[in-house]
Amino acid sequence: TVLVVDFGAQYAQLIARRVRECHVYSEIVPCTMPVSEMLARKPKAIILSGGPSSVYAEGAPAVPDGLFETGVPTFGICYGFQAMARALGGEVARTGSAEFGGTTLDVLQEGALFAGLPRVQQVWMSHGDSVVAAPEGFAVTASTADTPVAGFEHPERGFYGVQFHPEVLHSEHGQAVLKHFLDAAGCRPSWTMLNIVDDAVAAVREQVGDGRAICALSGGVDSAVAAAIVQRAIGDRLTCVFVDHGLLRKGEAEQVERDFVAVTGVKLRVVDAQERFLKALTGVVDPEEKRKIIGREFIRVFEDEQRAILADGPVDFLVQGTLYPDVVESGGGTGTANIKSHHNVGGLPDDLRFDLVEPLRTLFKDEVRRAGEELGLPAAMVWRQPFPGPGLGIRIIGEVTGERLDILREADAIAREELTRAGLDRDIWQCPVVLLADVRSVGVQGDGRTYGHPIVLRPVTSEDAMTADWARVPYDVLGRISTRITNEVREINRVTVDITSKPPGTIEWE
Ligand code: XMP
Repeated sequence: TVLVVDFGAQYAQLIARRVRECHVYSEIVPCTMPVSEMLARKPKAIILSGGPSSVYAEGAPAVPDGLFETGVPTFGICYGFQAMARALGGEVARTGSAEFGGTTLDVLQEGALFAGLPRVQQVWMSHGDSVVAAPEGFAVTASTADTPVAGFEHPERGFYGVQFHPEVLHSEHGQAVLKHFLDAAGCRPSWTMLNIVDDAVAAVREQVGDGRAICALSGGVDSAVAAAIVQRAIGDRLTCVFVDHGLLRKGEAEQVERDFVAVTGVKLRVVDAQERFLKALTGVVDPEEKRKIIGREFIRVFEDEQRAILADGPVDFLVQGTLYPDVVESGGGTGTANIKSHHNVGGLPDDLRFDLVEPLRTLFKDEVRRAGEELGLPAAMVWRQPFPGPGLGIRIIGEVTGERLDILREADAIAREELTRAGLDRDIWQCPVVLLADVRSVGVQGDGRTYGHPIVLRPVTSEDAMTADWARVPYDVLGRISTRITNEVREINRVTVDITSKPPGTIEWE
């Protein structure tokens, strides 16, 4: 394990991911964690992340006592670099020459970190203070025009540091620098997909023992991979429930019912609740009300199923596809949480209490996808772009009806097909297709006048869905989508593209 000590930077998660890309397992720990607790995790190496503050600022996060006396090889980045310098007798000062963004780095001597790398390279900086003198015995390995000490190391003592951010892509050779540190620390590249899946399966087997578990499948990658892992661990003692609420896109229900079951052999109960959801949504146009109704109905259907499953014997565990970023962001607790405090499923009644099984809680999204591939899940499922839980219900502006769902499903399928054919799936974060069901416009098709509905294409690029930009989809691809939709989907006579960034527009329309 490599521990990434988080000093409050937005980069800690990125560092942890980059370490894992070197096939070395890493975990994020808060900088308030006592060193004894860190050592209990038997780290092979420690990385100190960047942080927002100056080491001299009041309330600046402190390096945990004794961190530099552990004998564990340690790599300081940005704030971590400065904290290391200061703690070991170097000098940090506010030089007045802050650097933000791309900078040219001069490698003064290769040392371990820069071995075999170019003498001049682009790096990404973000700092106000600078290290002006390295601690005694340290070799200064790099500098920039404004920062005399931009890298140092003391291999015998296992200390390494750089002022720049090796974890961001704008640092040309950042990944190599990180890799060199891991090599120097003796970390072997053993974190492979096969091991990840095997470890997760073993952990589930140990947790569940000979108990039974249930899992709600949504059609998305997280719940599918979580279920596949648990199935591998406990076989038929897992029962999956798939609530077909009728708001999925074309082919997705079949993917779960047929392909997923065929690949995993999972025991699946499919509940056809389409009528029930439609009925509950009758006459509802308010977006928040739609979301509430869909969430409520889902829980009710799932509860009924659980009671039916419980009739065959006790069930102690509920499988959830919680990912590592959620764990980190919610304070990084360990062990099992009580379902009642869990937002993903919240609101279940008292007689339905379970311990959570969360086989993905140490994984990042891209690792979950690769685990899904390792498990043989359908590519369309593994690489599915984000899709909201309330599904197409919040992509029909106006009342949701069966007929409108059919129209939207067809249009959406065409848009997805053409974007995929154009090779844009990995460039685009997602592309909601929205039906303006209460709007009509006049058109002409053949010799006749039409009075149909417009749809909106909403292709966006994004890193995390918090912010987004409208995707510059090539005109010819947009043209093909438009032609096909207006030709193939009766009722739609106009195709428009949403060119609003987020903010101000959200990605979804409701
Ligand atoms: P917005 O529309 O808020 O969407 O910009 C941000 C991201 O979240 C997805 N989304 C949801 N996902 N349940 C989900 O699981 C929901 O209720 C929900 N609403 C929005 C949306 O598709 C986008 O990726």
